[in-house]
Amino acid sequence: MSDSKTAISIDNSGIDPQTNFSLNPTFAAVVDARMARRKFLKGSVGAAVAAFIGGNLAACSSSDDGEPTPVVPPVAGPELLGFAAVAASRTDGIVVPQGYTARAFLPWGTPLTGSYPAYLADASNSGADQEQQIGMHHDGMHFFPIDTRSGGDSSTEGLLVFNHEYIDNNLIHPNGIDTVPRIADEARKEIAAHGVSVAHIQQQADGSWALVNNSPFNRRITGATPMELAGPVRGSSKVVTKYSPDGSRTRGTLNNCGNGYTPWGTYLTCEENWAGYFANTDASQPREHSRYGVSGSNGRYFWETATPTADVYQRFNASTIAADASGDYRNEPNTFGWIVEIDPFNPDSVPQKRTALGRFGHEGVIFGKLEEGKPVVVYSGDDSTFEYIYKFVSSAPYYKNTAGGHLLNDGILYVARFNEDGSGDWLPLDITNADFIAKAAAAGVSFADQADILLNTRLAADVAGATKMDRPEWGAVHPETGEVYFTLTNNTRRTDTQTDAPNPRANNATGHIIRWNEREAQAATAFDWDIFLLAGDVGTETPGTELTLTADNHLASPDGLWFDKNGLLWIQTDMSGSQQGEGPYGNNQMLVADPVTRQIKRFLVGPTDCEVTGISATPDMKTLFVNIQHPGDRSEPGNFTSNWPDGGSSRPRSATVIVTKDDGGVIGS
Ligand code: FEO
Ligand code: CA
Ligand code: CA
Repeated sequence: MSDSKTAISIDNSGIDPQTNFSLNPTFAAVVDARMARRKFLKGSVGAAVAAFIGGNLAACSSSDDGEPTPVVPPVAGPELLGFAAVAASRTDGIVVPQGYTARAFLPWGTPLTGSYPAYLADASNSGADQEQQIGMHHDGMHFFPIDTRSGGDSSTEGLLVFNHEYIDNNLIHPNGIDTVPRIADEARKEIAAHGVSVAHIQQQADGSWALVNNSPFNRRITGATPMELAGPVRGSSKVVTKYSPDGSRTRGTLNNCGNGYTPWGTYLTCEENWAGYFANTDASQPREHSRYGVSGSNGRYFWETATPTADVYQRFNASTIAADASGDYRNEPNTFGWIVEIDPFNPDSVPQKRTALGRFGHEGVIFGKLEEGKPVVVYSGDDSTFEYIYKFVSSAPYYKNTAGGHLLNDGILYVARFNEDGSGDWLPLDITNADFIAKAAAAGVSFADQADILLNTRLAADVAGATKMDRPEWGAVHPETGEVYFTLTNNTRRTDTQTDAPNPRANNATGHIIRWNEREAQAATAFDWDIFLLAGDVGTETPGTELTLTADNHLASPDGLWFDKNGLLWIQTDMSGSQQGEGPYGNNQMLVADPVTRQIKRFLVGPTDCEVTGISATPDMKTLFVNIQHPGDRSEPGNFTSNWPDGGSSRPRSATVIVTKDDGGVIGS
């Protein structure tokens, strides 16, 4: 450390700042969630229940209070969920059920050439090295069969595309991140460890999987990759920067958390806690900074201080003081907070930030059930305390033969209001909607145009009267019924007077899963909801259901969520702090549920201090890909709390895990 350097510490606890202080109604009375469930079944029993069970209605009986109760067979066949649940545990490794095998794959630092630049175990790889290596903190992921574009469904070769959410400040360099000003090559490495990896992979003769070394598809997209803004915000004066005087371009994607994929074979990556990477030290910040938590002091990793100074680092300082005659970066944060579309099959493609889908802390993105000739419907949650759930409906109809990214450039963005009686409404955030404009005016808020609404999506949702949720994380849509599930990971800031039917618990430390059915069509503006699961310790009940959690399935902080093609719902957890370290739940884990019977079993437990997040599978459901993020995240430089996956005394590394069944069978059976 030179004398001119100042010691710093990185605060990772503040990545979920509460910035929603709007006065949207929170309901004073705790309403029994059973009421919502009854209404759900009763309100649109014909459409909702029939859709819910995919046409497999076996019988309908009445409960003792005379209300209809569906009697349905499990969506999953009897052979599924046949494995023995694994116990909660604190093993520094991957635990899967008997008869299954899990192998680590493509850990942080793996070169995309297969050999060069090799990962250095002391973390001394350079920034240039990292630009050619798998990034850190694996997160959302999708497997694209190699023959996707020709309508194929290869289960032995494909492109595995996955996010790198953030970095571990204590593990990315030999001595961690400890002083400012930051060293430019360290900042370069950290920016390159973010983003997305595209890895061409192939199953080998022995059943294992390998990277196709030097494949032209292998690609790193990072926090510095040139990208375009697409949709209504493109060209707005509020995205003009020194780099892009016409407001059409930006560099990089950051804090890529959950993901999605399109029906036309492209990948969607979600920018979640991007705001903290920027600093705006002005006495007052514009609303498009303050409502998102742009830092008033320094960027999360102090990249704006990197020396030698360069434009690629100074752009993280969005303060007026950073402006000069050749342009400035006061609008740089406005080019983040979007869903980014990436074409993995075209290595030269420029990623597109799809601004019509709104700007917030995007956790994941999921398409509603597709219908030829009908709009595409896309759901996305804003994972921050008391934030909202959104739905985009395209203006143009979907036709399989012509579908493409243009469908995501024009449409209406809605935000969800969950009513106490189990009904719900999608509220448009639309400059042409008179009701919305009237609500904004009543709140003393004005928007210049649709771009202004989208740049300030959270504010628009505030004035529309959306329901404040307990941190919406991933969504999942049932492949047959179109029913939508969303994880609400936790919210310990909700007080007794702020509980409501969709968020029924004060100090909600363990989270829940909510679900809904759209009325009539996926693009409908009304829906019926109920609570699928209240997470918690053994004995936790979900009111209005038969579900009581046991040692086979107790869980906290549900986050990743995914339906497999067989209709099983996979649930991944992201406990942190004391819940992660000392709680009754063991290490973070993955469970699998039958959405009809609510039978739930723990399938996988991750290594020490990791998060389990990101999931995909081959079309035959015989290879499952799961991501393990930040094993050993309470490590200090040289003092590791996990040594996964390399073992011994090694530095822990995020990695993908490949799960197979030893008899070659379907995963989940
Ligand atoms: Fe990146 Fe909301 O988890
Ligand atoms: Ca997450
Ligand atoms: Ca989380």
